[in-house]
Amino acid sequence: MSMTENHKKLERNVTLLAVATFVTVAIGGIVEIAPLFWIDNTVEKVDGMRPYTPLEQAGRDIYIREGCYTCHSQMIRPFRDEVERYGHYSLAAESMYDHPFQWGSKRTGPDLARVGGRYSDEWHVQHLEDPQSVVPESIMPQYSFLSETSLKIGDPSARLIALRRVGVPYSDRDIERAEEDLLAQADPFRNPEDFVERYPKAQIRDFDGKPGRLTEMDALVAYLQMLGTLVDVDSAAAQEELAEEKGR
Ligand code: HEC
Repeated sequence: MSMTENHKKLERNVTLLAVATFVTVAIGGIVEIAPLFWIDNTVEKVDGMRPYTPLEQAGRDIYIREGCYTCHSQMIRPFRDEVERYGHYSLAAESMYDHPFQWGSKRTGPDLARVGGRYSDEWHVQHLEDPQSVVPESIMPQYSFLSETSLKIGDPSARLIALRRVGVPYSDRDIERAEEDLLAQADPFRNPEDFVERYPKAQIRDFDGKPGRLTEMDALVAYLQMLGTLVDVDSAAAQEELAEEKGR
C-alpha cells in the first residue's frame, strides 16, 4: 500500500482520524508542559515572600466570595503605563502561594496587586462601605454588610492544612497556632508570641476601627493592606537581572 493509500484510509475513518489527531496533539502538549513540573526553577525565589497569615487568608476568601476579581486584576504587566500607575510589575514569585491565583482578566476597577499601604484602613472601610462617598463617579458596589458581619472563624488550622497539601509551606507551628494567630493579628492587646517571626511584615491592629469585634471587614482590609508589601521589588528585580546576566 502506498503512502497516499494509507492517508486515504486515515482521512475516511473518523475514529481513526480523531485518535491520530489526539495522539499528535498530546505529544506536542507533553513536550511543552511536562518539563515545567520537573524543573524547580520555573518560579524564581525572591526574598520576603511568605504564606498568607490566617487573617489575610480569611480576607482573601471573602475577596473571592464577593467576586472582587470580576472587576479587579492583581497582576501589573511590565508596560510603562502600568508600572507608572500601579508600581513595579508583578513578579511570578509574588503569586506562588495563591490558590487560586487572582490575576484576573478584567479591569473595571484598578489593579490591586500593590494596593497595600497606599490608603489608610479608614479609607478602605469608608470606600468598601460606600465607594461613592469617596469617589463620587465610582460604579463599585457597596459592601457595608462586611462591617456588620462577624467573621466566621471556623477551623483556620484545617484551611492551612489544605493549603499545605497543595504546596504552601506552612509549618506545624503555623497550623497549631492558626486560630490564635488569626485573633492576635486583629487585636493589639492579645499576646502574638512568635507570630511576626513566622510571618514577617505581618501588620497587627484593629483594621475595621471597631475594637472588640472581629468582622469580615477586619479580614478583608488586612488582606488588602498586605497586597504587594512583602517583597522589596526593586532589589528582587535587580537580583533577577543579575542572575540572568550570569546565566548568559
Ligand atoms: C462592579 C465592579 C467592581 C467590583 C465588583 C468591585 N470593585 Fe473595587 N473598584 C471598582 C472601580 C470602578 C474602582 C475605581 C473607583 C473607586 O475607587 O471606587 C474600584 C476601586 C477599588 C479600590 C481602590 C483602588 C485604588 O488603587 O484606588 C479598592 C481597594 C477596591 N476597589 C477593592 C474592591 C474589593 C475588595 C472588592 C470586593 C469586595 C471590589 N473592589 C469590588 C469596581 C469594582
